[in-house]
Amino acid sequence: MKDFDLVVFGATSFVGRILCRYLLDTRLADAPSLRWAIAARSAARLEELKGELGEGAESLPTLVADAADEAALRALVARTRVVVSTVGPYALYGEPLVKVCAETGTDYCDLTGEVQWIRRMIERHEAAAKASGARIVHCCGFDSIPSDLGVYFLQHEARRRFGRAASRVKMRVRAMKGGVSGGTVASLLNVAREVRANPTLRKELANPYSLGVNTAALANVRQPNVSTAKYDVDFKAWIAPFVMAGINTRIVHRSNALSGHAYTRDFRYDEAVSVGKGLKGRLAATGTALGLGAFMVAAAIGPSRAVLERFVLPKPGEGPSPEAQRRGFFDLRFMGRTDDGRMLRVKVTGDRDPGYGSTAKMLGEAARCLAFDTPQSELAGGFWTPATAFGERLVARLQARAGLAFEIID
Ligand SMILES: NC(=O)c1ccc[n+]([C@@H]2O[C@H](COP(=O)([O-])OP(=O)(O)OC[C@H]3O[C@@H](n4cnc5c(N)ncnc54)[C@H](OP(=O)(O)O)[C@@H]3O)[C@@H](O)[C@H]2O)c1
Repeated sequence: MKDFDLVVFGATSFVGRILCRYLLDTRLADAPSLRWAIAARSAARLEELKGELGEGAESLPTLVADAADEAALRALVARTRVVVSTVGPYALYGEPLVKVCAETGTDYCDLTGEVQWIRRMIERHEAAAKASGARIVHCCGFDSIPSDLGVYFLQHEARRRFGRAASRVKMRVRAMKGGVSGGTVASLLNVAREVRANPTLRKELANPYSLGVNTAALANVRQPNVSTAKYDVDFKAWIAPFVMAGINTRIVHRSNALSGHAYTRDFRYDEAVSVGKGLKGRLAATGTALGLGAFMVAAAIGPSRAVLERFVLPKPGEGPSPEAQRRGFFDLRFMGRTDDGRMLRVKVTGDRDPGYGSTAKMLGEAARCLAFDTPQSELAGGFWTPATAFGERLVARLQARAGLAFEIID
């Protein structure tokens, strides 16, 4: 038997610290209780973290490994059933751990939202994961759990009520409050850097099926994409592009493909921010679209990217305060329509800031789902999405413990 149910690798990261606090505070809810350890590249920082966590953390085992040291990572995964990683940008540091997990049959989940990296990991390590039985689940934070499980939940209800899935689904961010961390900024800027170094990546990132399976069968389906301000008749509001749509839509399409097109073969999906009504809404949507466009351009150009990194954006290790996390929240609305015109609306909410307070709880419950609720007999090795790996088990966990709510709104 392995020593641990799960190991948090990157425990000393900004989000890793919040995750450790959450696992510690909720450890008594697991039966049998969670056997876990914290891991990072620095023994001193791990000791500092234990001190910060305080009561209950004194006996927490620590493991030291650098993300580039394959031998140390092999020793780490030999002791645990599941590894959770918050060491990012994943495209810079993440591959050795995914490789080692895939080769050794160790289950793994993380917070990456880097489409180009996920695609590379699938291409390089899926065969090994299938052979070893390792279940690899990326995107277990705000990107992309609320989107992926929101659509899953809506489709489940559509099939129950209408006997068929909705072939058209929209997600609109109704409201959201929170901040951004240096780690997330570093990941976004690294994507911009990669695109500059390899222009063909731009085309890959623009492909809604870039994480798809058997996409030839879908060649005729043109996916909607909200790239400018526009009026949405279904939501009766002006909408603007949503920065996370680029990853979330890819994960939702992968879930559809992995589930044998349970959302239909001509499933169409997009995401946007709902900004408001009337002239005020129109102006706000235009401003949001222009602001996002300007940020993307600034991030893509070397000198302006350097100014953003140096003076404007948070540095790695920094992020919203505990108070800002507590005051944060998110409210996402989904609309699904079947081919015969029947409609269903769903609301998904979270009680902390999306990127850190809620993300840490979602990641913690996804990891527990892998450790406790997902036997090998029910989920084979491979690269799964949150919806295809966990489905309603994770919906139930998130509602019971993590402050998320999934509701049908008629
Ligand atoms: N999906 C989502 O919704 C979501 C939300 C939040 C964050 N994220 C992603 O999660 C990741 C972490 O974010 P964050 O803000 O917590 O980042 P962060 O504070 O900058 O943490 C990065 C971590 O990586 C560790 N690290 C760097 N190089 C390493 C190496 N060679 N070996 C071992 N560890 C190494 C750092 O170790 P030290 O502590 O020793 O410096 C640090 O703990 C980012 O990729 C971010 O984009 C995703």
